[in-house]
Amino acid sequence: MRDLVLEIPADDRPVYLRLAQAVREAIRKGFAQPGEAIPSTRSLARAAGVHRHTVMAALDELVAEGWLSARPGQAYRVEPDLPDPYFRPATKPAARSAPKPQGAFPFRIVRSSSRPAPEQPLLPYRFQGGLPDLRLFPADEFRSHVADMLRTGFESHLTYGDVAGFTPFLRTLGTYLRRLRGLHAPHLLVTHGSQEAAFLVGQLLISPGDVVAVEALGYPPTWNALAAAGAHLVGLAVDEAGLVPEDFARLCSRRRVRLLCLTPLHQYPTTVTLPVARRMEIYRIAQKHGVPILEDDYDHEYHYRCQPLPPLASEDPQGLVLYVSTFSKVLYPAARVGFMAVPQGLFKPLSELKRFVSRQNDSLIQGALARWMEEGGFSRHLRRMRRTYAERLDALVAVLEEARASGVDLSWRTPDGGMALWLKIPWDAERAAAAARASGVLVHPEPLYQLRPGAGRHLRLGFANLTPAEIRAGMKRLLAACARLPASRQ
Ligand SMILES: Cc1ncc(COP(=O)(O)O)c(C=O)c1O
Repeated sequence: MRDLVLEIPADDRPVYLRLAQAVREAIRKGFAQPGEAIPSTRSLARAAGVHRHTVMAALDELVAEGWLSARPGQAYRVEPDLPDPYFRPATKPAARSAPKPQGAFPFRIVRSSSRPAPEQPLLPYRFQGGLPDLRLFPADEFRSHVADMLRTGFESHLTYGDVAGFTPFLRTLGTYLRRLRGLHAPHLLVTHGSQEAAFLVGQLLISPGDVVAVEALGYPPTWNALAAAGAHLVGLAVDEAGLVPEDFARLCSRRRVRLLCLTPLHQYPTTVTLPVARRMEIYRIAQKHGVPILEDDYDHEYHYRCQPLPPLASEDPQGLVLYVSTFSKVLYPAARVGFMAVPQGLFKPLSELKRFVSRQNDSLIQGALARWMEEGGFSRHLRRMRRTYAERLDALVAVLEEARASGVDLSWRTPDGGMALWLKIPWDAERAAAAARASGVLVHPEPLYQLRPGAGRHLRLGFANLTPAEIRAGMKRLLAACARLPASRQ
């Protein structure tokens, strides 16, 4: 058998897993056909520059997954029936030599914080943080507002319009933010989710090498948007009350910090609310060093125990806060309706940038949303969802309390709001997530949220997307799967 063309991804997973992925890809691309023997472990080890045991670990992984078969004393072979139902092997391999490079012309490598998006496989129980339960979205009601938009005046509604947003929506949103979040006369720019907002901020404020302070446990998509502009991300400590102001002050005294990214209402991923004294301290430090703050307030509406604290942006005498928020959690993520409220001086340059990038958002969805908000349906939906999610949080806490009472070493702080709970477990989080996954439960482990990934003992349990019965069944499976794991020593 000739050599396989292996493209081993450069990320922080163990080498054998990356090698397994490379072999899997080679099979997918048809470099090794079903039934065929693959090269010997010795030659693969030589080609990949790794130990033979590493190759064997990688191939055994693929045997377990059903891609390869192994018989004592024989070469590993590609399984005749491959496990991936969507897989159709290329009948003719594209090339047996190295593939032609794609895009053989100069282009810029887009930098990222090298945190890949977590996988979201369709497992029966998905404790996926931050996803609303779309089964409860009142689609019929919303459809009538979309239909209205298409029925009346659509010639003017659906053409090129204001870059900042669809005018009736901007008006309604302005009123909503004034009444419910204390933002007065904000300079609003509608964006394709928070993600576009973070990207625009990066492009406007960041030059390659600029220091951007982020929560060391945080939200990788924002990191990626800023890293794409060349930001040098520096992680600040997060403890059980959120970002530690002293760490921010220390960094500012040593380096010129160009931006601070903060999730004050429900710290991502831990969901703790930053206490008022810390907010004020962080603002004071930012003011002293002239550091703008990107405030990500991504699920403001979901606060259960009391009224949510108003955003930092609602009291921003120095005009430091670039406030970013989204309708992904209260409408649906694919609507891609986010927005920013920015200091006056930044409004025009950000609008110009937005014009270059995406020209404007969809006025159909903005218009329908404005009508839904005006008519009261939106608040009704929110009230219903708030009640539902609060019940789900209670259900999750009840399961955890029961497990703790039976001797499992679990600890957590029940959050005042948000859509996820940060749980400390007695096992290594990645091993726990892998065991859960093998039992049909999706849960994301702490290292996914670490700027510098290491080990961790926390899981982020999204509860909004599961009914109480699903939460109970899913947690039962998760805890049963983890019970077989060794206790973590760290
Ligand atoms: C911290 C954080 N910011 C922002 C968002 C929303 O992103 P978008 O508006 O791009 O859908 C999420 C959603 O998961 C989030 O968790």
